[in-house]
Amino acid sequence: MMLGQDSTGLDLGLMNEPLALYIHWPFCLSKCPYCDFNSHVRDTIPQARFSAALRAELAWEAERLGPRRLASIFFGGGTPSLMDPATVAALIADATRLFPPLPNLEITLEANPTSVERARLEAFRQAGVNRISLGVQALDATALRFLGREHSASQAIAALEHARATFPRASFDLIYARPGQSREAWAAELDQALRLCADHLSLYQLTIEPGTKFEALHRQGQIALPEDDAAALLYRDTIDTCAPHGLRPYEVSNLSQPGAESRHNLAYWQYADYAGIGPGAHGRVTLAGHLVATRRHRAPEPWAAMVEQSGHGSTAEELISREDRAREMLLMGLRLTEGISQAGFAARTGTPLLAALDPDTLERGVEAGYLTWDGARLAATLEGRLRLDALLGALLV
Ligand SMILES: C[S@@+](CC[C@H](N)C(=O)[O-])C[C@H]1O[C@@H](n2cnc3c(N)ncnc32)[C@H](O)[C@@H]1O
Ligand code: SF4
Repeated sequence: MMLGQDSTGLDLGLMNEPLALYIHWPFCLSKCPYCDFNSHVRDTIPQARFSAALRAELAWEAERLGPRRLASIFFGGGTPSLMDPATVAALIADATRLFPPLPNLEITLEANPTSVERARLEAFRQAGVNRISLGVQALDATALRFLGREHSASQAIAALEHARATFPRASFDLIYARPGQSREAWAAELDQALRLCADHLSLYQLTIEPGTKFEALHRQGQIALPEDDAAALLYRDTIDTCAPHGLRPYEVSNLSQPGAESRHNLAYWQYADYAGIGPGAHGRVTLAGHLVATRRHRAPEPWAAMVEQSGHGSTAEELISREDRAREMLLMGLRLTEGISQAGFAARTGTPLLAALDPDTLERGVEAGYLTWDGARLAATLEGRLRLDALLGALLV
């Protein structure tokens, strides 16, 4: 092998920035009343059209990105478990041909308990998926009805057990801090979740998102979320209950055993390069030495028509300014328990970390126990993560 080349014959110097690849599948069986993700319901899902369009857009993105090492692939949605497994297999084959994979390439697929029958899960595994993220949302029948879910708690548990037996890694999502949910009720549900859990959990507090059915109900006073203090108590309870099980919060809403973190999602929070394929997908990619924000047209069929016409559905791309790089990296990095390293921040944003921060807020944040700063790394404590929006608002110069 020649110096500077690896076994694939590619110049390693050109492949400095490893890539996380996000692939968006925009279809669901029904629209959940809390959800503002780019997800749509169709009588018949146009499988062949969207398979071809995703593959075409991936090829277009690879062409302009050039050789990169592939660190992870994430099939998100929408409900990617509604994808034809042959499409998942073809996209994985394309991606790993276009971008030489790093060892232990992480390939995650989001699945709903309703759409994961036995044959499909096995087919996704055979396609190369090695991590599943299951949208359980609740383990309580009344809550599942309230959340408009299409599955029962027992279906979710069966899907989870099957997923654990089929994939080397499995995570699931729950939504808590629901209207009227007591500490005791959440403790019992979390207890059950911990018995079912493999090595990773995503635990989200319910938020009211613009344009959703829940927003209308909230406006009419028919849905009331817990007050901030009650929600904070639920958050502290959650962290305390998970700790004896070896699950630590590595990000605000994500907990794992050491080493079982979602490497793909870490790329977002660590502000590394990620490419986004499919309707509405976002990306942050280094192109010709500049960090570029990429965005795809959001509506599924018009996006597919754009790809059919010009090979991609990209809209309004822009270079990210030095100030915005600093702001975005701080917003993302303080979600992580490990926080932000001074050296990594300067290398990625071109701004020294301390120059991006208001010195008074930093000093007061550390004194109040919301932030830690050891001269090399800045992090938000658990109490800091509870008031992250306010903290960030004051911290950014
Ligand atoms: C892309 S979504 C859904 C994945 C999959 N389609 C499902 O429903 O299971 C990812 C996760 O975000 C969470 N989520 C979505 N909207 C939310 C909201 N308004 N409040 C809290 N969590 C939310 C849910 O836990 C969901 O599983
Ligand atoms: S929560 Fe999941 S299944 Fe429900 S509408 Fe959103 S993406 Fe679709």
